[in-house]
Parts: sequence; C-alpha cells; structure tokens
Amino acid sequence: MDCGVVYKRPKEISYSIYEVRLMELNDLYWSMEVIPGVDITDKGKRHPFQRHFYMDIYDRLFSPLKDKPIKIFELGISRGASIQLWSTFFKNGVVSGLDDKVPPRKDYLDTLPNVQLAYANAYDEKVADKIIEHFPKQDIFIDDGLHDIESQKFALKHYSKMVDKGGMYIIEDITPPEFQKLLYCRSELHRRSLMEIYDYTQRDNAMADDIMLVLQFEE
Ligand SMILES: C[S@@+](CC[C@H](N)C(=O)[O-])C[C@H]1O[C@@H](n2cnc3c(N)ncnc32)[C@H](O)[C@@H]1O
Repeated sequence: MDCGVVYKRPKEISYSIYEVRLMELNDLYWSMEVIPGVDITDKGKRHPFQRHFYMDIYDRLFSPLKDKPIKIFELGISRGASIQLWSTFFKNGVVSGLDDKVPPRKDYLDTLPNVQLAYANAYDEKVADKIIEHFPKQDIFIDDGLHDIESQKFALKHYSKMVDKGGMYIIEDITPPEFQKLLYCRSELHRRSLMEIYDYTQRDNAMADDIMLVLQFEE
C-alpha cells in the first residue's frame, strides 16, 4: 500500500473491521497499490493532474453492489487503472473493457482473474454489433472513451443495448454546451430510465467537462 486510509489505520483496530472498511470503494481507491505502467485512474483526486470528482459518486453507487456477481463493462481502458480497481472491488463480478489501443501493461491486466478485454474501434457499427453480442446483460456500462458528443451519442445509442434491466449506464466527461443532444438521444432509447446528473464544473480545481450522467434503467 502506498498511502491513504488503510495505511494510516491504528494498529489496535481489528482485522475484521479492516476488512469491513475495505467495502468502501473510495477507501480501496485511496489505498490500493499503484502498479507501474497501470497507474491510478483519473476518476478521483488521487490522480496527479487530470483528475475528476467522480469517485464519491462511484462509491455511493457501487459500494452496495460489492459482493454481488456484477457484470461491469468500461469503454476506455487507457492503462487499465480503472479496470484494476473494478476487478479488485467486484471480487465476485466480471469486468470487461474495450479500447482501440492495447495498454502498456496488458501482461499484468491479463493476470487478473475476472477481467476480459477487447481491442477495437468502439465507434464502428460492426465492432459495436460484435461487442453487444459478446458481452450481453451488463449491470453497469461506463462510457469513458473519446468524450466528444458524437462518440457519446453513438455509444449511448448502441451500447445501452448491453445493459440489463435494472442496470445503469454512465457517461463521464460531458461538455456543457452539448449536453442537450445527449438528453435528446436518451429519449430515443425507448427504455424508461431515471437520470442523475452530477455537475462539478463550478467547483475549485474542476475540469471544464467535469459532468457525469447516470441512467438507471427500470427493472
Ligand atoms: C480517459 S481514457 C480511459 C481511462 C480509464 N477508464 C481509467 O479510468 O483509467 C480514454 C480511453 O478511450 C480510448 N479511446 C479513444 N478512442 C477510442 C476508440 N475509437 N475506440 C475505443 N477506445 C477509444 C483511449 O485509447 C483511452 O484509453
């Protein structure tokens, strides 16, 4: 461990409480080992420069699901830091991901027992059809890919089909002026969903696209 809550825990706290505390995704994020070449995800403030405020939301959304056999799919692997985080957190789950570039530490990511990664251009219709067929009934889908509005619309239209009833579809890094286009696209999905929007753009040290959208599909 390099730093964070777990590292600082007083010795007298028993091992079982230590285990319980690790249920919190945020604690895991702040305490997990940084693998050289995999690094740390920019979803939270532990990232050295390009960091967002999303880890608190993920903590609230994902911590109750920790022990369930969750199927989670992320578009955008980069160095694999978020894949490593989901894989460690959802021990009973299956973590899948897609990127058009092979990560530098593919060798390490391939050793994670519950991870399946694919490499192709996510915004190609034929690729999307294959991915949807190969990775059905996901409980969680995260769009952390290209981040421009056209790619976000493409992903929402296609990859939301992979999300099971009761599942959630999450879009990170939305640019404010284009936001309405995503809302319109959502209305074309013909699936009922609850929508939550987290806008951190007015916070100190926020990034211009520090907006996250969460769609919760009905059961
Ligand atoms: C912000 S990074 C993902 C970060 C990662 N999810 C994390 O939290 O550590 C965005 C990723 O989208 C990928 N990407 C960009 N264009 C893509 C495309 N056409 N198809 C698939 N992935 C793409 C990039 O290669 C990059 O790895």
